Amino acid sequence: MILPDMRSSIGITALGRYVPERVVSNAEYEAQLATTAEWIESRTGIRERRFARGDEYSSDLGVAAVRDLLSRDPHGLQDVSAVVCATLSPDALMPSTAALIAMQVGLGGAAAFDLSAACSGFVYALSMAQGLILGGTARRVLVVGAEVMSKVVDQNDRNTAVLFGDGAGAVVLGPVPAGYGLQAFALGSDGTGASSLYLRCAAPELPGGFPMGRFLGMNGREVFKFAVRAVVESGTEVLKKSGLATSSVDWVILHQANVRIIEAACERFGMPLSKAVVNLDRYGNTSSATVPLALGEAIDDGRLRDGQQLLLVAFGGGLSWAACTLKWWGGAPSLTSQAQEGVR
Ligand code: ACO
Repeated sequence: MILPDMRSSIGITALGRYVPERVVSNAEYEAQLATTAEWIESRTGIRERRFARGDEYSSDLGVAAVRDLLSRDPHGLQDVSAVVCATLSPDALMPSTAALIAMQVGLGGAAAFDLSAACSGFVYALSMAQGLILGGTARRVLVVGAEVMSKVVDQNDRNTAVLFGDGAGAVVLGPVPAGYGLQAFALGSDGTGASSLYLRCAAPELPGGFPMGRFLGMNGREVFKFAVRAVVESGTEVLKKSGLATSSVDWVILHQANVRIIEAACERFGMPLSKAVVNLDRYGNTSSATVPLALGEAIDDGRLRDGQQLLLVAFGGGLSWAACTLKWWGGAPSLTSQAQEGVR
């Protein structure tokens, strides 16, 4: 049994990631939509994104991320008895994508469920996984963020098509040495903003009668304003809960939606943009996969080192937000840059 006073000793013990092979450049949209590569890059920071094949779904991307984790650390899944998959583009509503992933990576029999908190999902899932461990339900938990946004976004809608991409990240949460690991969380939602960002399922409209089309719908301007506010407020809250000053943060990993959101948030934090890990130029918004993809990249290129202080913040449909502080432990085989060969 792991006692609650060891809360700060639960952290990431393994990581893997995957993006599909097909690169879709901004220029490709010029042929099919009333847009320009220049507009997309200057308004969002995105230059290209990855798209899954027609027969590739979130479970496939999640499995590939877990296989990447295993190739970096063959013992990385040891003692894992629960799998949480954050996704807004699951293969199906049932079975869960988590169960489909579990069965394919040798974790058949593990507890498995999907978590729906849109782009905030991965950070929400870290909190759920920590709870499962602290509650004594699981010793280690596999947390996956996996999305095929290209299949739920209308590729004929210039307002949304150009923003999103596909990808997956997987981490294992478990005990880490004292002083390392997760420190505090700030999670929240505001359903009054539901019509700003939605993806239809059983109901044709939202409460109050807002009709939803077949694909992801978004009021970009409203989401932008909400995002900057949510990142700054939840980031500030979680730093306060952890007793940390903004200046003590080594790396901030924000949800990769728009580089202008990241710039505005860093400015309000009084933090140089150089402390933010940015990879949306190559992957676009991969929803629940953005945070683990950025984390993995920072490990691979040697930026993220043992003992450094991280601030993770994500936001998305709900509207929802999720922030956490994390003292990085780099002691496991898949968490050091020497062991990495980049995204496969
Ligand atoms: N190419 C050319 N013009 C476009 C495009 C495009 N791809 N997309 C929109 N426009 C047009 C709009 O129609 C609008 O035209 P209008 O003035 O004639 O109405 C014009 O560009 C300007 O629109 P704005 O909304 O002011 O543009 P803005 O600079 O805000 O950029 C954007 C739009 C990129 C969508 C921005 O608002 C944004 O990034 N918002 C946040 C989106 C986000 O974070 N979403 C993900 C949330 S996470 C999740 O859970 C899924």
